[in-house]
Amino acid sequence: MTETIDRSVFANAYAGRAPWDIGKPQPALVEVAGQISGTVLDSGCGTGDNALFFAERGCQVTGIDYLDEAIQRARAKAAERGIQARFLTMDALKLGALAERFDNVMDCGLFHVFGDADRKRYVGELAAVVKAGGKVFLLCFSDQEPGTQGPRRVSQQELRDAFHPGWVIDSIQPIRFAVIPDLKELTFSEGGPKAWLAIIRRESGPAPAIETVVETAVYAEDLERCQGFYRDVLGLPVIGQEPGRQVFFRVGAASVLLLFNPTTTLRGGQLPAHGARGPGHFALGIRADQLDPWRRHLAAHGVAIEKELSWREGSTSIYFRDPAGNLVELVTPGTWGTPSGW
Ligand SMILES: C[S@@+](CC[C@H](N)C(=O)[O-])C[C@H]1O[C@@H](n2cnc3c(N)ncnc32)[C@H](O)[C@@H]1O
Repeated sequence: MTETIDRSVFANAYAGRAPWDIGKPQPALVEVAGQISGTVLDSGCGTGDNALFFAERGCQVTGIDYLDEAIQRARAKAAERGIQARFLTMDALKLGALAERFDNVMDCGLFHVFGDADRKRYVGELAAVVKAGGKVFLLCFSDQEPGTQGPRRVSQQELRDAFHPGWVIDSIQPIRFAVIPDLKELTFSEGGPKAWLAIIRRESGPAPAIETVVETAVYAEDLERCQGFYRDVLGLPVIGQEPGRQVFFRVGAASVLLLFNPTTTLRGGQLPAHGARGPGHFALGIRADQLDPWRRHLAAHGVAIEKELSWREGSTSIYFRDPAGNLVELVTPGTWGTPSGW
């Protein structure tokens, strides 16, 4: 069980020469800049060079750090360079308080300062601020870096364990942290401390349940003729209509068939514009013992059956046209294996 690095360590670092405060963006982040667009939260932004780099590239950036000194310096840099970015003094263990979700979160050297308990808490807070499908770009010391100076070392497995469940690790690649030159008391690997750049995606959860198809729409220029067909030949009760625009029919106990004139509906109005031309298709369910009566009924009305198919599942479909050319299917139960039997 490790401890979180104390706040005084960072405050003291900024009072002198903070090793990570290199006055420019971390090269590893510059390398992946092409993958970052939209809104960006820089978590533990320090004096803001990474945040300002992305703001300059057109991202909408918010940088947060719990040290007011770091945030003041970041704001001063933004003003000096004429770059728009928002910098807030706040604790990364309370990111949820932002009540905002971002396309990207950058964590350049923050994750590795947390002990086990705070690490868990931090990932929970990240979950509250990353959009579904959004990404965390995380740079941390790796377990390949020898010695114990600086922050704790992190293995790839620890990253995978920390971001689970609810996240997908897109990649973890070895990189080097750039640090200021001539570090007096610290000795890191030649070329900079060995680190990981992890790109971690927030999983999008399952969509809330949809119960059923309530409406099916078909389109016909000649509403009058089609209305007669659906009402008199197929026997569907009319439950609403607007001359020249639409006729609605009840189908069984739970569905509605909408017949629209596309010339009218494509213009829009109370509802957004919709409409289609050319033959549409839909299926109406019938009991298996009604197949023969339907064959006879259609013949009696001069409606030609264009095709009849027997499915592997034991069901049967018959196909014919409405006066507008839409392909209507009557199907018996069993084709789809739905819970209600269809
Ligand atoms: C290693 S520095 C990296 C700073 C900056 N990301 C950079 O690359 O220059 C870590 C930063 O995290 C900040 N920090 C540490 N713990 C924090 C916390 N709980 N909430 C917000 N910031 C924190 C420190 O003040 C420090 O600025």
